[in-house]
This record gives sequence, C-alpha cells and structure tokens, in this order.
Amino acid sequence: MLSWGFLYFFLAFITLSDARGLLKPKGDPVIELRAAAASVTCLSASALQTGSDSNGQSTTLVSGQTPSATNGANFINFCAGEVLTNGLQIATGSCNGVVMGKIPSTSNMVSSILISPTPGQKMKVNETFEIRVQTSGLSAGGFTNEDSTYYAAPQDLSSDGLVIGHAHFAIQDLGKSLTPTAAPDPTNFVFFAAVPGTADGKGLFATNVTGGLPAGNYRVCSMASAANHQPVVMPVAQRGSQDDCQKFTVGK
Ligand SMILES: *[C@@H]1O[C@H](CO)[C@@H](O)[C@H](O)[C@H]1NC(C)=O
Ligand SMILES: *[C@@H]1O[C@H](CO)[C@@H](O)[C@H](O)[C@H]1NC(C)=O
Repeated sequence: MLSWGFLYFFLAFITLSDARGLLKPKGDPVIELRAAAASVTCLSASALQTGSDSNGQSTTLVSGQTPSATNGANFINFCAGEVLTNGLQIATGSCNGVVMGKIPSTSNMVSSILISPTPGQKMKVNETFEIRVQTSGLSAGGFTNEDSTYYAAPQDLSSDGLVIGHAHFAIQDLGKSLTPTAAPDPTNFVFFAAVPGTADGKGLFATNVTGGLPAGNYRVCSMASAANHQPVVMPVAQRGSQDDCQKFTVGK
C-alpha cells in the first residue's frame, strides 16, 4: 500500500517538474511550431523597411499619384482582426499577412510567349489541341498544396536567381466575336490547367485540351506563379508582361 508521505512527495515532484516544463510532451510538431513562432514574432531589425515610413508625396513622378499607406513595422499587423488567408483560397476574400519575398534581378524577370495556339488559329470542334508557352526566368517545379498552402509562403528564388514556380493556362469564351469590349468574367472559364513542370526542362510549359472545345471565339492566357500560387512579383514596374494571351476560334 502507498503511504501518504510517498504520495505527497510524488505530487510535489510532478508539480515541480511540470513548472520547469520537464513533462511537456516532446515531439508534437504543432506545439513545437507554435512555441517557435511565439519566440520569433518580433520583427528583426535587419528586416525593417524604413521606406514604408513615408507616403511618397514629397516628389510627384506622375500626375494622379496618390499617397501610399505608411507603417513603421512592415505592416506586420495589417491583417489583425481581418479574415486571414491562412493558406486557403477564400472565395469571399481575405487578408494575407505573409511577406512578398525574394524578387529577381531585371536580368531574370519572367517573360512568356504562347507558341500554340497561334494568333487567330482556327481549330476544329472537339479536336484535342496542345497549349504551349515558352517562358524565361521561371524555375519550374515549385508547386505547393493549393488547398492548404495558398499564398502561405513568400516568393523564393533558385540558386541561379530565378523565381521558383509553375505555370497555368486558362481559356475563356469571348462570346460572339474575338473583339468584345466588356472584360470577360474571370470566374467563367471553359478550361483551366496548372502545370508544375516544363515539357523540355527549358521553360516550355504545355498541356493538352483533351476533346477540344465547342464552336466559339476564345482567349487562352498563360499565368506564371511562384510556388505558393501567387502571381510572380518582379523587380521594376516598367517592363514587358510576364504572361501572354492568344485569341483563336473553334469551328469558324
Ligand atoms: C462535340 O462534342 C459535343 C459534346 O460531346 C457533342 O454534343 C457534339 O455533337 C460534338 N460536335 C461535333 C461536331 O463533333
Ligand atoms: C498531348 O497529346 C499528344 C498526343 O497524345 C502527346 O503526344 C503530347 O505529349 C501531349 N502533350 C502533353 C503536354 O501532354
């Protein structure tokens, strides 16, 4: 039989051990991640961007220039109290607090040209065709879980300075002609494909539209993304587009 003395001693031991964290479960990745996060939620002095202190209105470069929002701490709490993106694709909108990340040099900017279909190409109804885009500046193969890590990590660069990411293709029906004047509804597309890797290891992304399309007027666009699906972020504002679009018809 256990003596009361021993029981008190045992309880005191547990309390003391617990206070020192000795009995904390080890190896629980969630608990360890949270503990690590709590110790790194302070913005490092070397990461502070003082450029965000100013609203930019001391010089006017372009008429219509508007004041920038300002913040003394990289907007680290910009999303406090908002619906957080938190790795999800939230159709009703959200706020993403993850930094934009690494930006390539101007000699490594992403550029794309659709080589198939060709401009105004006439396709046959229901006939499989291949979409091909030749890219430069994109290091293929970065393609994270889009259901749980959407925008959840910054854009990153390969060892040779290229954005690590992937490509997408979207085809939209333009309606009665190839020259509509209303912008197409982005929620309405007839084909969509995410393409993680290149077809040739040299920047060519391709996919088949199996079974083709019904008769119509269409636009296909390529969309280059970083690994966590964000549109690629480039180093300068004045540049050529990172994406390409082509218009074509089916059954005309
Ligand atoms: C194209 O495919 C659709 C759907 O399968 C079918 O209804 C239509 O008859 C086909 N048209 C032609 C010209 O093959
Ligand atoms: C498209 O289909 C053709 C014919 O089956 C095939 O040769 C080609 O590799 C396919 N392209 C892609 C990107 O899968």
